[in-house]
Amino acid sequence: MSMPTQQYVKTETVGRIGRIRLDRTARYNALNRTMVREIVEAMETFDRDDRVTVIVLTGNGKSFSAGADIEEMLEATPISMELLDPFADWDRISRIKKPIIAGVHGFVLGGGFELALACDLIYADPATQFGFPEVGLGVMPGAGGTQRLTKCIGRTRALEWLFTGDRMQADEAERLGIINRVTTDVEATVLAMAERLSNQPSMALRLIKDAANKAVDLSLQDGMEHERRNFYLLFATADQTEGMQAFLEKRPPIFNQQEQE
Ligand code: CAA
Repeated sequence: MSMPTQQYVKTETVGRIGRIRLDRTARYNALNRTMVREIVEAMETFDRDDRVTVIVLTGNGKSFSAGADIEEMLEATPISMELLDPFADWDRISRIKKPIIAGVHGFVLGGGFELALACDLIYADPATQFGFPEVGLGVMPGAGGTQRLTKCIGRTRALEWLFTGDRMQADEAERLGIINRVTTDVEATVLAMAERLSNQPSMALRLIKDAANKAVDLSLQDGMEHERRNFYLLFATADQTEGMQAFLEKRPPIFNQQEQE
């Protein structure tokens, strides 16, 4: 499956892992519109590729990302924003069905933090600094930061970070449950996790992600009904037969065999 042209990201497929590296290092991977489009298109290409089970997103150079490109936004007006609708591309990340693992280091600020929060699992280097400095620019997060952080850590705690723009250290992000883990070798950790997930049944991963996402938006009852439908659907997969048969035969299951044929 061919990738669209890329200027600000690098992509490769390693086994069943689709890798995306941000690559605008001279600007701390500040996210201009073209770069966001390239990230989204790379994710969508991997999402459609049957050989890929899991997507890994990492930074490059000194950082994951210092946020949206401030220079690009300086001359913006409400009308230019409305016409360009720069955040429409960000919405497409929410529709990626495969697991996305973010490995972050250095600065994870503003839109960079929002990008990490749009992923499913986040692993961070101990020296990583997270934050929403938008208030210091006279604006606010616009790509999901106020919503995702609040849903993740609660309103009063989120508001302190959003009002002050203070930087959050990696261990605090871990304590608050914003990231999965601090690790001294981000690259090895994300690849090991991606490798593990790539051996899990791909349709189960997809429907687990879908159900967990619904938990954020739906009432408990509606969410449970959605979960049940996904559960029933998995009984149409060869991996369900393989997983249960392997258990009864006391052997490890081998998933995704149909896709590998
Ligand atoms: N946009 C555009 N350019 C940026 C940038 C950004 N977000 N972040 C860094 N750069 C550029 C700098 O302008 C500088 O360019 P030049 O070499 O041409 O001068 C280069 O990257 C290196 O940056 P610094 O010289 O500032 O490096 P530093 O080590 O002193 O500081 C930093 C690093 C703390 C990350 C600092 O650059 C910084 O504070 N960046 C801005 C962070 C920020 O405010 N992010 C929020 C953006 S708004 C947003 O994201 C809205 C949204 O919700 C989508």
